[in-house]
Amino acid sequence: MDTSVLLALRDPAGVPFYPIVFQVLYVLTWALHAAFVLLSLGSMGLSLYGSAKGNLDKHWSILTPHLIQTGKISVSILIVLGVAPLLFTQVIYDPNWYVTNTLSGMWVFIFIYTLVVGYSMYYWYYYANKAQKPGSSLIGLISFGILVFAGILMHNFAVTSIMPNDWMNMYAPNGNVDTSGWTFNVDVIRLAFMVSLSIPVVGIFLQNYSRFLSTRKDFEESFIKYTASLGTNLAVFGLLISAVAFLLWMLQIGYLLHPVSIAIVVGVLILLFMAKINSNSYYTTLVLVVVALLISTMREVIRFDIMAGLGYSIYDYPVNLEIPTIVMFLATFLIMGFVGVAYLLSMAWKVGKNEGVFDGSRDALVSKLGKSTLYIMIVWMAIYFAWGIAILFNNIL
Ligand code: HEM
Repeated sequence: MDTSVLLALRDPAGVPFYPIVFQVLYVLTWALHAAFVLLSLGSMGLSLYGSAKGNLDKHWSILTPHLIQTGKISVSILIVLGVAPLLFTQVIYDPNWYVTNTLSGMWVFIFIYTLVVGYSMYYWYYYANKAQKPGSSLIGLISFGILVFAGILMHNFAVTSIMPNDWMNMYAPNGNVDTSGWTFNVDVIRLAFMVSLSIPVVGIFLQNYSRFLSTRKDFEESFIKYTASLGTNLAVFGLLISAVAFLLWMLQIGYLLHPVSIAIVVGVLILLFMAKINSNSYYTTLVLVVVALLISTMREVIRFDIMAGLGYSIYDYPVNLEIPTIVMFLATFLIMGFVGVAYLLSMAWKVGKNEGVFDGSRDALVSKLGKSTLYIMIVWMAIYFAWGIAILFNNIL
């Protein structure tokens, strides 16, 4: 691929802030997206095992609905969190993202419906399981398959976007233009690695689940022990599978001895040790977050290198500083985002720790955070609309 073609595909308006900031935000937000992708696939997959066991097993009859609920919430979070890396990637790697969306246009279209059907069926699975309907496992299985397929489609977009040298051939194979939008590329090892991570993620989640519930008197000791050891087994087994898939992937693309790759291997070894002894799973989770960030960095290093090899560097993207936009974005992200998330998390934590009904209005921290979130949102909306309308009138009057 000729550098001039890639440069011509960039946005002539340039980027509104320094590209490295978008790159860092991409790495950060993709790791968050991936965390919930893996948690949703892992908990949903495990819930299928539980629902196949039925209500006869006393541990699984408690665990299965909880896993279904975890997966259900995680899908909605992964969708919201998927938007962020999508925005950042289309700011700095717009040639890649838009070429992919053109070549795989039909799949992009299908992706939306895949998500709608897959997630709607998940709700069906949730209600059918709650009502103990006989076909609930089958519905869950179909929903799981559809959501995994959504992941395969995402993988196709990611892989196609880093194949600029093959774009012309995909667009016009043997010189005949193909505008069907059915381009589909899969890198089996990379995909296997990504999806396999859902096993250790649900394992470490279960360790946390068990630790979190261990302070509650209404959960039997045997259940706490069972979920902890199930979590340990899944985490260790899953980490070993993911490690093999990762090494194969790195070997295949020649990045085995890259510093980020080595850091990931070290991180996985530490995780293996921590997951195995399970002395405090909250610390294991912190290491998992670091490893997730490293994996996200690895993906970016691969893309950056491919593009640099073709003479495209995001650092050369023309910058057209737009300070007000950035201030608005950062204020929204940091102030509204952090306070809002702190409110939701603190409430969820306290609801889970509480036996019986938790009344947030009687809790000082929760009600303070709740009120702050509300006021900040009101101020945010006022500024957002006033600013937008002022700029609009300023431009047209
Ligand atoms: C059940 C639904 C989804 C699943 C299972 C899923 C899974 C994945 C996976 C496995 C990847 C990594 C692919 C790779 O690097 O090979 C990925 C990347 C990504 N996903 Fe998702 N995803 C889902 C929904 C979404 C949604 C709804 C959005 C946006 C609104 C989104 C945005 C992204 C973005 C921006 C990337 C990075 C693409 C790139 O770097 O080129 N995903 N997703």
